Amino acid sequence: MGSGKGTNCQAILDAQRSGLIQDCDIVGVFSDKPNSGILEAAKLAGVPQVYLGSYKHSNVTDDERWVSGIKKFRPDLIVLAGFMRILSNQFIQAFDSKIINLHPSLLPSFRGKDAVTQAWNAGVKITGCTVHWVSPELDAGKIIAQAPVRIMSSDTLESVMAKVQAAEHMLLPAVIAEISEGFCS
Ligand code: GAR
Repeated sequence: MGSGKGTNCQAILDAQRSGLIQDCDIVGVFSDKPNSGILEAAKLAGVPQVYLGSYKHSNVTDDERWVSGIKKFRPDLIVLAGFMRILSNQFIQAFDSKIINLHPSLLPSFRGKDAVTQAWNAGVKITGCTVHWVSPELDAGKIIAQAPVRIMSSDTLESVMAKVQAAEHMLLPAVIAEISEGFCS
């Protein structure tokens, strides 16, 4: 599930093609943005891609449409790769909490939106990215893996964003590969 450019979805698709992720089908890609890069990446890869309309966790109709739209594909794992909406408790329970999220900071620091900018403004010298299980509290579920990124004096906010994204493109496919091999819990 994603709302944005889809570079992390592309990294997952590439990892499957190269064999890093094995024994694992990407059954569908779902977005709340009709013309998002993530849907385009899925289309180019020949993976079913579905625009499920807007999603607001407090809206029961949105929730039901999203849950039923995804359940048709019978996923064992849901990956939030840049999905910029908060999920309802009902949604999380509907998928038996088998949902992981990619977040662009070293949690528990800098939860929520614009995490790289938050880290930059705080002046930290190490930031990074996290993959964690999704729980009802935002960006607070059990951490699965993290990758650090150093912030150098020569960096700009843009260069830090690029470094964090590069780290994400390595971390997320590796975590999916581990989960699919049954190593993570
Ligand atoms: C990623 O950097 C991901 O960490 C972030 O959205 C970006 C999506 O990029 N997610 C969040 O901020 C969630 N709180 P992408 O569309 O190019 O994969």
